[in-house]
Amino acid sequence: METKKIVLITGATGGLGDPVVRLLSASGRWVVFAAGTNRERLDRLRGLPDLHPVVLDVTRQDSVDRARAEVLTHTAGLDAVVHLAGASAFASLVGTDAAEKLEHILSINVMGMARVNQTFFQLLQARGGRIIHCSSEAGWMTPQPFAGAYYLSKHAVEAYSDSLRRELMFLGMSVVVLQPGHFRTNMSNAVRAGFEQTRKDNPLYAAVLTRLGPWMEQELDRSGDLDAFARLVQKVLEVRRPRIRYRIGTSRWLTLLELLPDRLVDRLYLYLGTRGHRNL
Ligand SMILES: NC(=O)c1ccc[n+]([C@@H]2O[C@H](COP(=O)([O-])OP(=O)(O)OC[C@H]3O[C@@H](n4cnc5c(N)ncnc54)[C@H](OP(=O)(O)O)[C@@H]3O)[C@@H](O)[C@H]2O)c1
Repeated sequence: METKKIVLITGATGGLGDPVVRLLSASGRWVVFAAGTNRERLDRLRGLPDLHPVVLDVTRQDSVDRARAEVLTHTAGLDAVVHLAGASAFASLVGTDAAEKLEHILSINVMGMARVNQTFFQLLQARGGRIIHCSSEAGWMTPQPFAGAYYLSKHAVEAYSDSLRRELMFLGMSVVVLQPGHFRTNMSNAVRAGFEQTRKDNPLYAAVLTRLGPWMEQELDRSGDLDAFARLVQKVLEVRRPRIRYRIGTSRWLTLLELLPDRLVDRLYLYLGTRGHRNL
């Protein structure tokens, strides 16, 4: 094991994680600790070369500790951790369970990342390891309505990453942020389910959501290339001097919104939510 590099990947059972772990395992250059909570999906990865499935719930310290103990039975160090565990939410920030939903998303997308980094830090430091955080285009773009928890979490990931990078640079360790646009995964289905639930639970917004629905579908129909994403992660792991941030699959029309003043973006959403679907 010691001649190959060693990586822990959270979210290995997800739509973005799966092609990444398969590519790294097939490369012959990496030993992969593939982490997730879904045992059935973890079992599907079992048997891939140089791959160890690990049960790890990023929201629970006892689970992260157990995963660390398991990794330590194979190695005392890690060359990298790739954080792909994450959850999204389509929900109103004034819905009846808004605070609960926000807490849930933050506990996975932000606190989960921090908990794993803290728990595995000594193993990473032992090998001057690299940390790769999966943010999103939601980490740098102006927030869309009804996706507040997700945008908030990804903006927090960006700030956390900047701060961590500026601490770990003193130790010669790097922190890299990935900012993918939309890729069709289970997350897309979760967004659709959240949309329907929000429309049902919030009569105040039912008509607005019905009008915004086609715009959301247009974005969800678009998908980046999952294999290209996996190749990007391998490149970020293996390049000698990685960049601080990498974008992939960025939405062109959401990028256009970045050029407009906030007031104009507000008016555009107001128009779309009140006057119906119209091609831009
Ligand atoms: N898909 C996109 O369009 C897109 C775009 C930009 C950024 N991203 C980001 O990319 C990352 C992966 O997303 P994805 O599209 O692959 O989503 P996905 O298919 O829904 O997979 C989510 C992954 O997160 C894991 N996860 C969820 N809760 C967890 C928990 N409490 N503890 C440990 N693992 C947990 C899941 O593992 P289990 O099922 O085993 O629990 C699964 O592996 C996320 O951070 C997401 O925000 C996705």
